[in-house]
Formats: sequence, structure tokens, C-alpha cells
Amino acid sequence: MKAHDLFDVSGKVIMVTGAASGIGRQIASTMADNGALVVLADVDEVGLGIATAELAANGGRVESCRIDLADAAGLVAAVEAVAARQGRLDVMFANAGVSAGPGYGTAIGQIDALDPEAWEKSTRINLKGAVFTLKAAAGVMKRQRGGSIVVTTSTAALSTSPLPGYAYFAAKAGLAHVLRVAANELAEFNVRINGIAPGAFPTNMAGGRLKEGEAAAKFAALAPMQRLGRMHEISGVALLLASDASSYMTGTNIPVDGGVAAAS
Ligand SMILES: NC(=O)c1ccc[n+]([C@@H]2O[C@H](COP(=O)([O-])OP(=O)(O)OC[C@H]3O[C@@H](n4cnc5c(N)ncnc54)[C@H](O)[C@@H]3O)[C@@H](O)[C@H]2O)c1
Repeated sequence: MKAHDLFDVSGKVIMVTGAASGIGRQIASTMADNGALVVLADVDEVGLGIATAELAANGGRVESCRIDLADAAGLVAAVEAVAARQGRLDVMFANAGVSAGPGYGTAIGQIDALDPEAWEKSTRINLKGAVFTLKAAAGVMKRQRGGSIVVTTSTAALSTSPLPGYAYFAAKAGLAHVLRVAANELAEFNVRINGIAPGAFPTNMAGGRLKEGEAAAKFAALAPMQRLGRMHEISGVALLLASDASSYMTGTNIPVDGGVAAAS
């Protein structure tokens, strides 16, 4: 079998949340480069416009859709609208997320300094928002009896370290567990649910502190490979999980992390 056929996503209708920036944008451009119809979704309308225009200028079949993970009803309506417009939804990348401040390596991230607002935000976006994205996609995919949902979790779901905040660990660990439960429920509908668990990648997360400087160096040092991920290194697993190459995979959460999960 040829790799080109095995990992084919051409013609698939693929929605990516958090597509205005970072990992979501990388996934969206990988899918568009490989012939999918990509719906870029994000709360950041300016970033969304720029990302969509860039992908279109590269020859991608793309459209954009403003969503806010904090608005569960709006999210479901947006996903239903995509399915109605395009006739189906083959793949949902439930990727959007936010940082929840530093971890216990910094005084303000220690457990006795836990901030209820940061906790609420991470739970609302990283857990509830991602789970409702899953719910919205599952509604469409159950009806059409097929689809792939790919959730961006984190090595924070698989390992511990002093760097990310408690609220982030809690939300991502919860999300990683929910995806396993949903994978069980939806298997009979031929809907697969898997996770990508990135280590540190140089995105706009945490105010861009993962891009360079002290914080980036600390995250790099957590990885046995002693470096951050490079953006293109997320593309392979995204193509695997979006395509029929993963047709017998569900309920997995795959680290792309330079070995962080293995070391923890
Ligand atoms: N960068 C990393 O090191 C890293 C590591 C592990 C996991 N992750 C996860 O990867 C995913 C993508 O993050 P990233 O690193 O690309 O960060 P990023 O900040 O570059 O991109 C996140 C995107 O999500 C969007 N977003 C935030 N809140 C939203 C909301 N309420 N509704 C809709 N969109 C919203 C932002 O506007 C942004 O475009 C997140 O789930 C994050 O937790 C990132």
C-alpha cells in the first residue's frame, strides 16, 4: 500500500478549533496542503482571518468560523452549520486551549496560591469547552455513522512537572480520560476518538513564553531529547489520526513530546 493512499485526507471535511495560531494552525495547513476542505475555527477573529487568507493563498480549500469554547450552545450550532453546509463532517480537531499560569516551580503557581479565576478559566475552556466540541462533533458523526475526533490533550495529562499550573494538569488529565470514555460509547457508530499529547511547542501559548527565553529552556530541559517540538512535527500524527491509516485506532492519546511522558 502506498503511503499517499493510506494517509489520504483529500476531499474530507475537517474542522480545526484554535486554528488561528500555533498547533491548530499547523494542523489546518497540513490538512489543506493535502486536499481537505478545512474549516478554521477560533475566537480570535483577526488571527482567523489572517490564517484563512494565508491557507487560501497557498491554494487551500478553506473557510473560517468564529467560535468561542466558552459558549457551548454556540459551539454546537457552529458545528451543525458546517455539517449542513458541507453535507458532513469527517474530522474534528478539538484543539483550542489556553494556559493556566505557571506551576509550582514559581511561587504564584504553588498550591497554596491557587487562583479560583485561573482555575475556572482552564476548566471552562480546556475541559468543558473541549468536551463540548467533542459533543458537537459526535452529534453529527453519530448520524452519519462515521468520523474521527482528535483532541489536543498535553503531556500534562501523562506526566508531572513544576512548570504548567495545577488547573491545566487537571483539565488536560480530565480531557484525556473523557476521550477514552467517549471512544467506548461511540465505537458502535464508527466514530473514533483519539488524542494528541504534545510536549512543549513554540506557539503563542502562555503569552509566547514557550517560544524562547528561560521558560522555553526549562520546558526543553524536561524532554529527554532536550529541545522543544518543531511545528511540523505535529503534522505526521495529525495526518495519521485524520486519515484511514488509523482506522483501527480509538481511545489512544499519543505523545509527541521528545520523550517527556516516557521520562515521567
Ligand atoms: N504549545 C504547547 O507547548 C502545548 C503543549 C501541550 C498542549 N498544548 C495544547 O495545544 C492546543 C493549542 O495550543 P497552542 O500551543 O497552539 O496555543 P496558541 O495560543 O498558539 O493557540 C491556541 C488557539 O486557541 C484559541 N482559543 C483560545 N481560547 C479559545 C476559545 N475560548 N474559543 C475558541 N478558540 C480559543 C486561541 O485564540 C488560539 O488561536 C491547546 O489545547 C494547548 O493546551 C500546547
